[in-house]
Amino acid sequence: MKPGILVLGSVWSDEVREQVAQAFECHFMATVPSAGEPAFDAIAGSIRGVLTTGTVGVTPALVASLPALEIVTVHGVGVDAVPLSLLAEQGIHVTNTPDVLTDDVADFTVTLLLSAVRRLPLLDRYVRAGQWPAKAPLKQARSLKGKVAGIVGFGRIGQAVAQRLQGFGLQIRYYQRSPGPAPAQRSASLLALAQESDMLVLCMPGGADTQRMIGKDIIEALGPDGTLVNIARGTVVDEAALVAALQDGRLGAAGLDVFENEPEVPAGLLGLDNVVLTPHVGSLTVEARRAMGQLAVANLLAHFDGKPLPTPV
Ligand code: 8YV
Repeated sequence: MKPGILVLGSVWSDEVREQVAQAFECHFMATVPSAGEPAFDAIAGSIRGVLTTGTVGVTPALVASLPALEIVTVHGVGVDAVPLSLLAEQGIHVTNTPDVLTDDVADFTVTLLLSAVRRLPLLDRYVRAGQWPAKAPLKQARSLKGKVAGIVGFGRIGQAVAQRLQGFGLQIRYYQRSPGPAPAQRSASLLALAQESDMLVLCMPGGADTQRMIGKDIIEALGPDGTLVNIARGTVVDEAALVAALQDGRLGAAGLDVFENEPEVPAGLLGLDNVVLTPHVGSLTVEARRAMGQLAVANLLAHFDGKPLPTPV
């Protein structure tokens, strides 16, 4: 009998659907189900694996209602939506899909930074609205060369972003608790990094340790000429403080791909010309998503074949 797996979320390509359907008894659900839902209760006892996305994850309640669960496979690098210590206590394996998305996420991060600094959506709206022939005044943007980009979280993605930004003549600094690879310059604290940087790029993991790490003090230290870019998780920023600072000019601009309550976006951001908003798409390329899908499936197959997991967390 094929092992039963629960596939959560709505990102799955035909390729992934076919691969999992061949090897497993699959149950697809767009959101995390709850005990008491008849369709879920009927299959809960047979579920040995969960394939989920970085944002849907699994909840402790779901884990408690799956007595035969052996493995949770995350299609994504971030595992903040998965209760890691609970799963470890119960001997349930967790895997993710690192590396295969790094370059595309880093490319997107640079795109978002450039769009925010050069106000790309505003310029696009200006042309579409017919303001060019009318010569409506346009504010000059700031150049990148010689400025300082501060990277928060200097892991695989943070380092890939730094490498790209150096090509634009930016100086790179970073902050994270442990020292990263030389020769990058680590600031003494997050606040110091914000004071020293013209742009702050958030690449740290989500979760309890980084919750609202970017508060009013950090935002104000970045200042009226500063730009904040977030491709990490919405939870790492105090969103209300961010919106207020962007509205009254205490922060210059922002490029935001992630939000605290996705897919909800704070209404206060929608009318602002100094923000670029995207719907959590850092890894949304054909190549990255194909590789993520293949790696996620490879982890499930390895587990049920009794082989070493390719990318355990
Ligand atoms: C995806 C992500 O949005 O990798 C992550 O942590 O946030 C993204 O790549 C998601 O996990 C796709 O399933």
